[in-house]
Formats: sequence, structure tokens, C-alpha cells
Amino acid sequence: MTEPAPIWASRCLRCGHTTALDDRVTGCERCAAEGFGVPMMPSRSGPVPAKPRPAPAGSGPMWRWSSLLVPSGQPVSLGEGGTPLVELRLPGVPGRILLKDEAANPTGSFKDRLASGAVSRARHLEAGTVALASSGNAGISAAAYAAAAGLPCVVISTPGLPEPTGAALRALGATLLLTDQSAQRWTALRTGVERLGWHPLTNYLDPPVASHPAGVHAYRTIAYEIAESLDWRVPDWVVVPVSRGDGLYGVWAGFVELAELGWTDAVPRMLAVERFPSLSAALADGLAQPARVDYDGQVQARSIGDRKATMMSLLTVQRSGGSAVSCDDAQLWAAWRQLAATGTLVELASAAGLCGAVELAARGELTDRSTVVLLSTAAPYAQATLGPAGEASRCPIRQILTCCSPSSRPEPRRRRARDRTV
Ligand SMILES: Cc1ncc(COP(=O)(O)O)c(C=O)c1O
Ligand SMILES: [Zn+2]
Repeated sequence: MTEPAPIWASRCLRCGHTTALDDRVTGCERCAAEGFGVPMMPSRSGPVPAKPRPAPAGSGPMWRWSSLLVPSGQPVSLGEGGTPLVELRLPGVPGRILLKDEAANPTGSFKDRLASGAVSRARHLEAGTVALASSGNAGISAAAYAAAAGLPCVVISTPGLPEPTGAALRALGATLLLTDQSAQRWTALRTGVERLGWHPLTNYLDPPVASHPAGVHAYRTIAYEIAESLDWRVPDWVVVPVSRGDGLYGVWAGFVELAELGWTDAVPRMLAVERFPSLSAALADGLAQPARVDYDGQVQARSIGDRKATMMSLLTVQRSGGSAVSCDDAQLWAAWRQLAATGTLVELASAAGLCGAVELAARGELTDRSTVVLLSTAAPYAQATLGPAGEASRCPIRQILTCCSPSSRPEPRRRRARDRTV
């Protein structure tokens, strides 16, 4: 007798509104009407799948877990997932401290899971051009997976994009657009989505919602891998560098799912480490949703440089019984040097994990019996220089419609009207 297939739906993280599986990045319409930006995330019901075996050749370790992932046909895989969980010795921090090293992904960051999930889904839906707003890593990942899938990719970023990132994007065949202000990236993305039919991989609304639901959902595999490595025990805390909180939420949701499946018997508390205290302030002041933090200076930890946290992050921290802490560039560089001194070279934003562990110790949250996992989100390649992007890659926002109009881009794969509103 064949097992019944799982049933997939989309569910609002805040109000529980449930619809058919929805690929839009615009989130819950009911919550939007109340002024909240909240994603509709994929939710699976049906039979409990068996614990997975190694992946067949051709699809990387992440897709071992395909029975728990959004149906996406043949995955677009570059070998993502299966990253090491390594022990760190941190003087003054009690307990077992483990680093989940996402630098080991194909393009050097955890965004490869997001990109593999979202681009697989885009190809499955026969989407045309995929597009996103990115400070660097997500753009490189998306460009790589789009290239692997044979899809055109538009990456929208801001001046100051490190030159190695620009060079990687050019090599991967992506179109790079630079807008003067960070917020203009979203206007540009929205324009492309609404007028050119681009398939968005990231948010373009304010209040911010989340990245593509299938991509965020794929971050669950980080939790699956951690739990499996710990013989189906879970850490007390997971510490995550946070910007929009796609990773923070995805990892936590993965642990919640494992507990619901009965594969584990607890869910960790989540510590969000942010560059600007948007989430921290919302928690401390009991705000209904995170507010924007004013700051005009340069940010070196660009990957976590967003000034406004998401509702998704707030809900994740609250529901996990967790917390949030912010650290500035100087604190991040100090943590970065400390990690480097032990042989662990990470992107500046990833040093946030160490800042978080030190903060947990200072708050008395850790004992010798504690297990803490620090999510190290990226390798340092993209920050090798922090100078402005090369002239040749610059494309002013006003040219967006001409330089990226369908006539000047390679013909996308067959497109369907469904592209926009699946
Ligand atoms: C290296 C790195 N760490 C953390 C983040 C934050 O990710 P999220 O938006 O999922 O919170 C990013 C996002 O760009 C990143 O590139
Ligand atoms: Zn809602």
C-alpha cells in the first residue's frame, strides 16, 4: 500500500491564516491590513516521514531532507548542506560551544540553502528572471543557483558592495543594479516584479516580511543536521547573526518540526544577534513590532546592516523563550579576531555568534552542562575588500527599466501567468 502524500499549505506566522501553498513574498494579507509584515510559511501535514539516508548523487546533502521540504521537482543543487559542527574553546564561556560552519556551502554562506530552496521552486514553477535585493552573500548564492538552473538573475544592491562580490556576480552572469539608498533596492525590486514579471527571492515591502517562503523553509535543514549530529538531542541555545531573521526563524522552525515529529524532545532557545538594536528594543520596550533604528554612518558588517528587524524575528525570539542582543562593528571585529586566533576565519557578521555566546555567559544563562550552537553564516571572501563596486557594474536606478527590460535580457524559460501569484 502506498503512503498518503503530505499536504502542503501556507500559514501566517502571526494570525494562523491558512491558504493553498503560496509562493509570493508579500506575506499575510490580513496582517498587512493591520500594519504588520508577516510571512505565509509553508506547512506540511500528513504521514511522518522516515529519518533520511544519505542523498543520491546529484543532489547535495540538503536535499536528503526532501520529504520535509516544499515540493520542488528536481532540485537545483550545487552540493549545499551537510556543513561541519565543530567544537570551539572559548575561555570564560562555560559549556559546550559548537560552531555550525555554513562557510562550507558551495558559495561560502548559508544563503546557498535559501537559494537552492527558492531557485528550485522557481524552476519548478517555470518562472522567468529571478531577482533579489542583497548586501552580498544572498546575491552571490542566487546568481550561482540561477546560473545552474539556466535562469536569468538580477541582483540589486548598494554602492560599497565589496569588489570581490561584484566580480563574482559578473562571473556568474547576474545583472547587478546599484541603488543609492538601501530602501530604494526594494522599490527597484518591486518595480521589476510588478512591471517585468520578475520572480522575487527576497522581500520588497515595508514593514519587511521575509525572503521567498521555500527558501526560508530550506533553512530548517540546519536544525535537522544539528540535531542529527547531536544524536537527536538539541542544544540549549542557538545563536544566530540576524538581519531579516530568515535564518533565525528557519532554524527554529526546523527544531519545532523535529519535536512535533517526535524525533527530538525539546526546542532550543534562540538568541538573535543584530548590528542595530531594532529587535532588542522591540523586546525591551514591549513594542507590537520592531522599529527602525536611525543611523547615518558606514556599516562594515553589511550582511547584518538592516536597521529594521522583522515581525518574524520578534515572534521567533518570543516563542522560543529566547532573547536578542546587538553589537557594533568594533565589538564584531574584536570577536572576529578572537575567532581568527583559534583558526576560525569567518565573515565579520558571523563573529556575531561569539558576541552572543559571551553575552549569554555574562547574563548567567550558561553552565558547564550547557550546549550552545553558534551559527557561522559565511566565509570572509565577500569582505576581502570593503571598497566601492567597480564602475562597469554600476547601473543607476532610473535605468532599471531599460537595462533590464526583457528585450535586453536573454530569453527566459517559458513563463506562465502563474509566475506572479502561485
Ligand atoms: C553572512 C550573513 N549572516 C547573516 C545574515 C542575516 O541573515 P537573515 O536576513 O536571514 O537574518 C546575512 C544576510 O545577508 C548574511 O549574509
Ligand atoms: Zn496573518
